[in-house]
Amino acid sequence: MRPSKAALWTQFHRDMLEVSGKPFGLDAGAADLKCYPLFSTETYWGIDIGRESLERGLGRYPDAKAILADLSTVPVPANSVDVCVSTNTLFQLDVEPRLSAIRTLCQAVKPDGIMMIELNNDEAIEQTLKLLQDNFSQLDISYFGNKLSRLYEKILQRSDGKMPGYAGSRPFLAISWILSRLEIAGRKTSTVRNQIYIKAQGKIAQGKPVLFDAKLYEPIGDRLYEPKQTTQ
Ligand SMILES: C[S@@+](CC[C@H](N)C(=O)[O-])C[C@H]1O[C@@H](n2cnc3c(N)ncnc32)[C@H](O)[C@@H]1O
Repeated sequence: MRPSKAALWTQFHRDMLEVSGKPFGLDAGAADLKCYPLFSTETYWGIDIGRESLERGLGRYPDAKAILADLSTVPVPANSVDVCVSTNTLFQLDVEPRLSAIRTLCQAVKPDGIMMIELNNDEAIEQTLKLLQDNFSQLDISYFGNKLSRLYEKILQRSDGKMPGYAGSRPFLAISWILSRLEIAGRKTSTVRNQIYIKAQGKIAQGKPVLFDAKLYEPIGDRLYEPKQTTQ
């Protein structure tokens, strides 16, 4: 277990519990729907560019639906999403496509909706925060990945970047737990931290909430859709 990730997910879990029972949840960068169990929204849709992983997740969760699409170009109806999530994904997009994806997600959130996203504290963070500030009046920003956790993770991690099996043994879990508590205690300190988790709400551009429907998408499999091709 990586202490920084554990801390970030503890925070994310808490926030997801607070929004349970909302109608519509969107998971941007859903992969095999790993986050599905955290959504207690009435409806769950995931978006990802990986068909295989989406199909694996859809096989596991019979209520879920998914869109096979690139987040930087996917159309999502404005004001249609109650709970919008993107974890461990946006850092994979180059800056311009990333900002485009975040713009789409901001627009998709309903006026009383909420967005929770994970970002890397990289060269685009100021631009990204500005975009979020332009769209939401309340940003709860948490910083994770302090020097101590990163040192622990660096010492333990294998050459392929993964943590070794023994990191899951009791003594290491105990160390990791202590480090993750330190992360949570210091989550408001931005210096030397490489991961950012943001809960955004209080949408500034008020619009009429709309029902998310599948009109923009066409089916390509069991509960799997892709954006309709628009003719020029
Ligand atoms: C590490 S997984 C994250 C899965 C899950 N959200 C989590 O937190 O574990 C990152 C996912 O982002 C997807 N992804 C990367 N770039 C994307 C893009 N431009 N559009 C849609 N999905 C993308 C990948 O296919 C991958 O499934």
